[in-house]
Amino acid sequence: MYTQRLNRLIEQASAHGFDVLALVPGPDLFYLTGLSFHLSERPIVALFPVDGPPAIVLPALEAVKVAQTAVELEVFPYTDEEGHTPAFQSACASLALAECIIGVEALQMRLLEVRLLERYGPGCRLVPAEDVLAELRMCKDEHELSEMRRAVAATERALGSTMHQVEAGMTEREVAALLTIETLRAGGEEMAFSPIVVAGPNAASPHAVPSDRPIQPGEPIVVDFGATVGGYAADITRTFAIGALEPELARVYEVVRAANGAGRAVARPGMPAEEVDRAARAVIEAAGYGEYFIHRTGHGLGLETHEPPYIVAGNRRPLEPGMVFTVEPGIYLPGRGGVRIEDDVVVTPGGAKSLTTFPRELAVL
Ligand code: CO
Ligand code: CO
Repeated sequence: MYTQRLNRLIEQASAHGFDVLALVPGPDLFYLTGLSFHLSERPIVALFPVDGPPAIVLPALEAVKVAQTAVELEVFPYTDEEGHTPAFQSACASLALAECIIGVEALQMRLLEVRLLERYGPGCRLVPAEDVLAELRMCKDEHELSEMRRAVAATERALGSTMHQVEAGMTEREVAALLTIETLRAGGEEMAFSPIVVAGPNAASPHAVPSDRPIQPGEPIVVDFGATVGGYAADITRTFAIGALEPELARVYEVVRAANGAGRAVARPGMPAEEVDRAARAVIEAAGYGEYFIHRTGHGLGLETHEPPYIVAGNRRPLEPGMVFTVEPGIYLPGRGGVRIEDDVVVTPGGAKSLTTFPRELAVL
């Protein structure tokens, strides 16, 4: 599997004029090698030349992980005592990085690694390679999809068991803690991101942080969270309430539910990503709430919670079978609350198929 991925990487890197790709710990390196490290003050850089064997500079204490992976990498280790300088110097010399065009992850690489490459690969030019790497990862294979299905299943089980425990008077933070426990119990390996549990006025902000405010009956409660399995994320949002919602918010709920359905129904291979956004947005605009839908309709999902393809106006990238993305329209009424319903879908030859199956009707606890 990794051989095939690395071959595609080299093919694409070469087609885009790169001499070498330099990757730091994160989703790209994990995808290509199965190696996972923390991005820490001890720099790690993996180097993939288009015409030679790959190498990695890393702390000696991490070398055992490389020995265990299926990918052959020449290791340039360093100890804490000697520091990273000599290892970078010899790796850059050995791979002849001087004057090279080096593809890097502009969203991941830090000034620390940039300076090391520039210093020991004199005359090299660092160029963002996100587009090349995103293309490799955008369509998920069967193994990836099965991990994502397991992540979704754990997330949905956790949501169900948490909802049974929620009572008026609990704080948003308490519910977020319950979600975390239930997610790990349900087989999630980690939380894909810090869970969002926001109620009442706090729910009017899409990315609000759970607070110590007790949840009141009649408020919309927006719950947005996900498990990871095998490194792959789920990302689900449901909105529910303890007791009936006020009439306008109940109406808003149905508009968001219809918009979510419209987005999922329209997606198919060949369609520009922005058309999915347009379909969901049209429902909300027709109901008169266009100005309260203040974010894009969705984002790609995989080793990262947010990755291409972005489901947003202006993204003409055609959808392809195997792409996984969220459909998550929302309406946010300042000072009063908000509603969001988020599903994870995979593009198949026949259209988008939802990985998430948790009921979308308003649940009144
Ligand atoms: Co989400
Ligand atoms: Co999302």
